[in-house]
Amino acid sequence: MARRPAQQADGCAWVTGASSGIGAALSHELADRGWTVVTSARGADALSMARRGAAAIHPIPADVSDRDSVGAAAARIRAEIGPIGLVVANAGVYLPVDARAPDASLYRRTFDVNLMGVAHLLEAVMPDFVARRAGHFHIVSSATGFGGMPTASAYGASKAALINMAESLKIELERCGVGVSLSTPGFVETPAQDDNAFPKPFMVSPQQAAVRIADAVARGGFETTFPRRFTWLLKAIYALPKPLHIPLIRRQTGWGGDKEPPAPTKSGR
Ligand SMILES: NC(=O)c1ccc[n+]([C@@H]2O[C@H](COP(=O)([O-])OP(=O)(O)OC[C@H]3O[C@@H](n4cnc5c(N)ncnc54)[C@H](OP(=O)(O)O)[C@@H]3O)[C@@H](O)[C@H]2O)c1
Repeated sequence: MARRPAQQADGCAWVTGASSGIGAALSHELADRGWTVVTSARGADALSMARRGAAAIHPIPADVSDRDSVGAAAARIRAEIGPIGLVVANAGVYLPVDARAPDASLYRRTFDVNLMGVAHLLEAVMPDFVARRAGHFHIVSSATGFGGMPTASAYGASKAALINMAESLKIELERCGVGVSLSTPGFVETPAQDDNAFPKPFMVSPQQAAVRIADAVARGGFETTFPRRFTWLLKAIYALPKPLHIPLIRRQTGWGGDKEPPAPTKSGR
């Protein structure tokens, strides 16, 4: 599989979900490595705060679930900053679902941001990447996309879809000179974890996650997964036959036995 590293000569980096957590840390990591970085999220004030005065970081608010908003942001970036060379599709929401009383609107919101958000970004940048035989598109999925997890029937399904989507894109776009890559983080200590009711082993900081993603796009390989002592173990568990791995996941996450499992919280973010 050919590597196609992200290159600053192709244009600026565009990081979505960059007002908080992994995206905010990554925007600074890329700026420190010499990139001109455009940051997007819905909240303009939080986006400006996350910039912390860095001259190389240019906040341009956008709602990734809104096709027109993403298209307008891409046009604004090209007009005000220049060509786009790297997209990190990082914006995402974790909305826990209680499987005993599912709320379809949580699935809709999850898929609108986590999946359609990436589709809107692809539509906004890919024709230009292909025409220039340039550019790199990185998708932030999750280790939750490897297989089922309690409360994650919406979130995990969206992240599994992104793993599949990234593979399809990689297969098609390699011959067009465009890079495609994927990250599948385990637990990262960000506000998104506030709604997660089960144990979070081997949690890493947003800065550690940012370094891993920045290294990954610089290398140009396909998947980066971290922390590997957790995500490789998870991959091994999910490779077991389902009659073995489902009870194992149930027990490890606190959903085994007779006692009431931890209730999912709903922040509505
Ligand atoms: N934290 C973890 O343990 C973990 C593990 C694996 C994967 N991930 C993935 O990593 C990514 C970042 O997660 P995080 O933990 O850093 O989350 P976070 O701290 O909650 O940040 C989420 C970011 O996404 C933005 N966002 C939400 N909805 C948006 C929308 N419709 N349009 C544009 N931006 C939107 C938020 O800003 P606004 O609300 O202002 O828009 C914020 O900047 C997500 O895709 C997440 O699924 C996280």
